[in-house]
Amino acid sequence: MRKSLGAKPYLFPMPVLMIATYNEDGSVDCMNAAWGGTADYEKIAISLDSSHKTTDNIIRNKEFTVSIGIKEYVTECDYLGIVSGKQVKDKFAKSGFHAIDSEKVHAPTIKELPLTLECTLDRITEEEGLVIGNIVNVTVDDSILTDGKIDMKKFHVITFDQANNTYIELGEKVADAFKIGLKLK
Ligand SMILES: Cc1cc2nc3c(=O)[nH]c(=O)nc-3n(C[C@H](O)[C@H](O)[C@H](O)COP(=O)(O)O)c2cc1C
Repeated sequence: MRKSLGAKPYLFPMPVLMIATYNEDGSVDCMNAAWGGTADYEKIAISLDSSHKTTDNIIRNKEFTVSIGIKEYVTECDYLGIVSGKQVKDKFAKSGFHAIDSEKVHAPTIKELPLTLECTLDRITEEEGLVIGNIVNVTVDDSILTDGKIDMKKFHVITFDQANNTYIELGEKVADAFKIGLKLK
């Protein structure tokens, strides 16, 4: 028997996107965002509240990075989602993360997170506050690569389970995409 839960934003899995920006004084801010995803081959769309320091920084700098949260740093990722740079000025330093300049954008790359999308701001939609970014470069730490390809056995991506307010690690490979379905063609 199926049960109606009402209108809820229940998509699974939700990502743990860590959005990093520079503050006015050059210090680093970073926040956790689950309401986002790819919008096109080279675009990303993230629903950001206008009250966040990150949103102010993106509007001012027009550039930001998006890294993927991993199991090893779940505490740091969660902390950055529950404390605002508006209230705690040294929020990023307190997280224990370290940042370096990104290659192609004026925004920080978090050293501890192995995959980072470097983005420029395309636009922010008025009604939903959806930040649309252009992905201009991706950098990856070779610790998660095997033969030059991202290896999900080494990349311990976490996802946000909003039904239970928990973080879950992605699991095992179940099949080859674009292939397993050919059996039924
Ligand atoms: C699991 C999780 C997911 C979140 N997802 C979003 C989101 O998609 N959009 C958003 O605006 N805020 C989201 N937040 C809240 C921000 O991360 C939080 O308000 C943060 O303190 C903003 O930091 P800032 O003011 O330094 O930018 C999320 C927080 C958590 C813990």
